[in-house]
Amino acid sequence: MKKMFGVIGDPIAHSMSPAMHNDLFQLHGIDASYLPFHVSNDDLESAVKGLKALGASGFNVTIPHKTEIIPYLDGIDPLAEAIGAVNTVKNEGGLFIGYNTDGPGFVKGLESHAADLLSRSALIIGAGGAARAIYFSMAKAGFKHIDICNRTPNKAEELVNACPYKVDSKVLDYDSAERNLGNYQLLVQTTSIGMHPDIDSVPLSTNNIAQHSFVSDIIYNPLQTKLLKEASVKGASTQNGIEMFVYQGALAFEKWTGIFPDTEKMKANVLRHLGGYTC
Ligand code: ATR
Repeated sequence: MKKMFGVIGDPIAHSMSPAMHNDLFQLHGIDASYLPFHVSNDDLESAVKGLKALGASGFNVTIPHKTEIIPYLDGIDPLAEAIGAVNTVKNEGGLFIGYNTDGPGFVKGLESHAADLLSRSALIIGAGGAARAIYFSMAKAGFKHIDICNRTPNKAEELVNACPYKVDSKVLDYDSAERNLGNYQLLVQTTSIGMHPDIDSVPLSTNNIAQHSFVSDIIYNPLQTKLLKEASVKGASTQNGIEMFVYQGALAFEKWTGIFPDTEKMKANVLRHLGGYTC
């Protein structure tokens, strides 16, 4: 019987996940369909029950349901529980189990660029939901030193205190992050600053950026944020948010099928899809 997968969110019309996963199912000869489902907050519980009643094999969860879905699941993986957000659900013998592939996807995307990144001293910019998934996953992956800078330092303090994995971290405000930027070989930008239509903004000045540093921005609209442009001019290697998006999808696909797909083909597919509306 054809297997059913999907993504629930609000809004959902622009999600690239259906195109990405349907392409993968076809490529691997798997008889399955992946559909976008527009689910409002009020309908979340009934939507999860409905997906279970219909025998969905798995689904992704996107904004605004990543945290709110947790009470409606039958189980949750420890990393997803620590992060407090689920983006991937797998039907395991009739039970819906929640996972987080966003953070691990980010780390895998980094590793695909350079194996030595793990030993670098890192600075995460931002302390929201995306930063939390990334910070915990980087700590779990073995990064030794990860500082966090945020407009509201308290929120960064909360992240540091809540992290269940051993890592050496301190919290900075933007001024001291700018002054000390040369201490970091890896910068991870997780805020919405620089995202379309705010394309002329940068979260901080790159004046003091270290030579040969690596800068990753999780934004993919535009493909090259002003921060990435400036860092690149100063000699840094850069990565945009396509990587995290593709790798979270690849890890979800692997959870569902046991197959880790070709991420280069996935990237090409996503870029083709994005061509329509990125600036
Ligand atoms: P997400 O789930 O995408 O991470 P979020 O949880 O709302 O979104 O977090 C947004 C992050 O971007 C936060 O770190 C936020 O800083 P604050 O914690 O101080 O609010 C940061 N952010 C968003 N807009 C910002 C701005 N204009 N200037 C500085 N930081 C900003």
